[in-house]
Amino acid sequence: MLSTEPPTRYTLFMSTAPQKTFYVETFGCQMNVHDSEKVIGTLVHQGYSQVQTVEQADLILYNTCSIRDKAEQKVFHRLADYKKLLAQGKKFGVLGCVAQQEGEKIFERAPHVSLVCGSASYRNLPQMLIQIEAGKRATGLDDRETDECFETEFTARTNPHRGYITIIEGCDKFCAYCVVPFTRGKERSRTSESVLAEARQMVDRGYTEIQLLGQNVNSYKDPAGKRSFAELLTAVGEIPGIKRVRFTTSHPRDFGRDIVELCDHVHLPVQSGSTRVLDAMQRLYTREQYLERIASMKAAKRELSITTDVIVGFPGETEADFAETLSLLDEVGYDSIFTFKYSPRPNTPSLALDDAIPEQEKSRRLEVLMSKQKEIQIVRYRKYIGARAEVMVEGRNEARKQWIGRTSQNKTLNFSAPEGTEPKLGSYVPVSITASFPNSLLGEMVI
Ligand code: 5AD
Ligand code: SF4
Repeated sequence: MLSTEPPTRYTLFMSTAPQKTFYVETFGCQMNVHDSEKVIGTLVHQGYSQVQTVEQADLILYNTCSIRDKAEQKVFHRLADYKKLLAQGKKFGVLGCVAQQEGEKIFERAPHVSLVCGSASYRNLPQMLIQIEAGKRATGLDDRETDECFETEFTARTNPHRGYITIIEGCDKFCAYCVVPFTRGKERSRTSESVLAEARQMVDRGYTEIQLLGQNVNSYKDPAGKRSFAELLTAVGEIPGIKRVRFTTSHPRDFGRDIVELCDHVHLPVQSGSTRVLDAMQRLYTREQYLERIASMKAAKRELSITTDVIVGFPGETEADFAETLSLLDEVGYDSIFTFKYSPRPNTPSLALDDAIPEQEKSRRLEVLMSKQKEIQIVRYRKYIGARAEVMVEGRNEARKQWIGRTSQNKTLNFSAPEGTEPKLGSYVPVSITASFPNSLLGEMVI
């Protein structure tokens, strides 16, 4: 495996040559952000150094997202914008979901690209780099049926306090609208021992918050059969030095009660409040079953913050279906939602459905949904005024003379500190909440 291999001849050669540089831009979800951290670590180990502008780079990489058409178009615009740089000998690579989905067609559409590689083939990046350096084209598109995860010890994490660990890659759910099972391949989990080993290493480097990642973390199956997802979550949380463990994303169908008492925040994508639409989406649960999960969370001993994803304008979604989504928002009381207009994607079953909703109507529903949720959040956030929360200090807003913090429920809580007090980034401090907004809280540090 890549992470245990001795340095290759190529690396040795690189050490005497001027250092090659790369630039990477990442689109899409946290999985992609974390994949880029692994890709960066791998490239650095291969003798490359990362630069912050396209102009400085020998190799320009786009780690792409194809979940919606807009995200996909962005990468082709980028490639067109920088095509002129080919004359300077720069090389271009497309990674991630658009690479997997479009494959070698990318070479036709953007002939200046020399590397096309989907996420299931990143293990082979070092060999592919050698190929493109030799002036050839390289593709990594054939590994979606692999049993292997992309594990590497060279992950270049950008945030020094909160770090991601992938526990499961791919997705076997095949929701009717979703391109992920086609771009990221079948589900494959890492052993819980390797996850725990990585978490311990991260603690040694100063991390106190860990986010376990997967398209569907509840499907986690330890290949060594040692731990369930809930047991893994517990074991990570018990590592001395770990203060917070998060996980994303959960699928309502597999979300078990055993997790409910282990967390302060659950992101549980509902997609629609109408059982009829959920059925057409092939989500494998009804509105009532989803609400049962919510009820078990609300019955938990600790207060849980619940967030979700919603798609509007799925083919055939009627006014009545949409009204059910709106009423579900009231019933659940989410702390935040991600809203999307349905976007038809290649290969997906919903592409064949009739009854497309006009773009204008999708936009209208999106507006209605967002303004409804804003009202809900105004009320929900207001109830924290007067309460106290522990935050992890994440940054400083100089203009406002405020510190930026995050609660265990993943809410942004900006705060002021008494004169002469400088809370350390990454530390945990108690804050008394004095005001609320639809998306954040405001407070004062308690000393
Ligand atoms: N159109 C619109 N939204 C989509 N999502 C996934 N596929 C599509 C699509 N084709 C949304 C879902 C998912 C989130 C990550 O993206 O809500 O939970
Ligand atoms: Fe896509 Fe559904 Fe898998 Fe989530 S569970 S990645 S929405 S197919």
